[in-house]
Amino acid sequence: MRLRSIVSPRALRLPLFAGLVLAVAACHRAPRGRLAPRPLPSTQALIPAPLGLRVVSSDSFIITDSTRIVIAADAAPDVERLAGQLSAMLAPATSVGGVSRLAPGEAPPPRSISLQVAPDTLGDEGYTLSADGNGVVIRAGATHGLFNGTQTLRQLLPVSVEHRAAVRRVLVVPAVQVTDRPRYAWRGAMLDVARHFLPADDVKRYIDAMALFKLNRLHLHLSDDQGWRIEITSWPNLARTGGRTQVGGMAGGYYTQAQYADLVAYAAERFITVVPEIDMPGHTNAALASYPELNCDDVAPPLYTGIKVGFSALCASRDTVYRFIDDVVREISALTPGAYFHMGGDEVEKLGHEEYLRFVERVEGIVRAHGKRAIGWGEIAAARLDPSSVVQHWRPARNGKPSDSSHVHAARGGQVILSPGNRTYIDMKYDSSTTLCLGWAGLFDVRYAYEWDPETVTPGVSGRSLLGIEAPLWSETLERRTDFEYLAFPRLIALAEVGWSPQSAGNWKNFRDRLGSNAPRLSAVGINFHRSRDIPWREQ
Ligand code: ACM
Repeated sequence: MRLRSIVSPRALRLPLFAGLVLAVAACHRAPRGRLAPRPLPSTQALIPAPLGLRVVSSDSFIITDSTRIVIAADAAPDVERLAGQLSAMLAPATSVGGVSRLAPGEAPPPRSISLQVAPDTLGDEGYTLSADGNGVVIRAGATHGLFNGTQTLRQLLPVSVEHRAAVRRVLVVPAVQVTDRPRYAWRGAMLDVARHFLPADDVKRYIDAMALFKLNRLHLHLSDDQGWRIEITSWPNLARTGGRTQVGGMAGGYYTQAQYADLVAYAAERFITVVPEIDMPGHTNAALASYPELNCDDVAPPLYTGIKVGFSALCASRDTVYRFIDDVVREISALTPGAYFHMGGDEVEKLGHEEYLRFVERVEGIVRAHGKRAIGWGEIAAARLDPSSVVQHWRPARNGKPSDSSHVHAARGGQVILSPGNRTYIDMKYDSSTTLCLGWAGLFDVRYAYEWDPETVTPGVSGRSLLGIEAPLWSETLERRTDFEYLAFPRLIALAEVGWSPQSAGNWKNFRDRLGSNAPRLSAVGINFHRSRDIPWREQ
């Protein structure tokens, strides 16, 4: 996150404004002048790269207005919903004939798109996709796998599939056999909606883009010194007061519980689990400003709009604080069907080490009592955690030496999510000409985000203890949706492939060409992506 800033909040406002002006000149750099090559055929441009792909013949399948999407007679409601989503994706140009249930024992008719759930060895998210002149069959052991198959089908189709209003588009599916499954169970993205608030509709657009690249966890950083962003009915001032501002002093915002529940449902329809984070005991100025009793001296500090870190802490010796935490965890957990609650725990300077550890252990107990698996930033690994809890490693290891106790957690049977700042903090500048964003973990472009092996990041964390990877996007300098997207894309796409595809598939030159070929699709879905210099963008 977080620069230990020597810049005063007052001084910050000018650079932010100047940054916006310069962003137009530097961040949004025009593509280079030479004639761009044509995109690769869709079978060679899939991201993330599937485990196995074979082009079987030149006999492609054209989706027409008589194509039916078929599901089994006894298909579960979520399969029917998925078939409806697929029909909506294909329908505007071709009037695809909707979704039909087959009669018991009936085989899929010729020239249909068939979604089939059948036991396999590819796990919940794996699938096979077979396409030839006679139609498409997507088969998976679970609905999530079927969904992943539909996203591959989407990428196999011409980019016109993204243009809902296109007329006369010809949806050609090349003849292929795909067998696919992810490398890691956790392929996450984090949005910091606390430093700058991001309205729910903008979060939905981020979710849409995540789904296209098979990311499956959206971690929402819902509170920090600068803002509290979710309504808590038992402590209403958190949102009303703590949500009032944001970095730079502009008006902030928060999600009502109904809006948050709607976001969670929207993500779930795209097989993305929302992971709520309430950061504590530090990064809590917005809460401390809302309720004096959370402070040891009973004095509420003013709201904070700068970007320093480490100066705030809940009063860890007070029972009121744990009642507060219990209420917050209870209300948010009731709105969140996913298995996880993120308790933050990073960058705490105002508590003694022992006091910090006891706090972490007590809050972990509260989270577990509300039926969730606790997650926390790397610092919490020093506490006596339950093996069911998850540590999110973020400080890059130096010279092969661990930067936190993730390895201790792994040794006690726990799991770790990797978010090393120098590879995954996609709020870092791309290069010295990037005017938005920070640079404390290093400047890095797409290649650096792509070329690493999670198994070797931090000693003692590999194999079963490695749950997956996540790309945090901290928003100290990001004010609007287009800023968030500009920093995330295309690095988030590189990280989606690191999390999904086998390490052996990781060939930079090949990835670079596939990414370049996806430019028309990124443009079609309206993502404001950075045209990194090291990518041969193919614009048509
Ligand atoms: C962090 O960046 N402080 C988790």
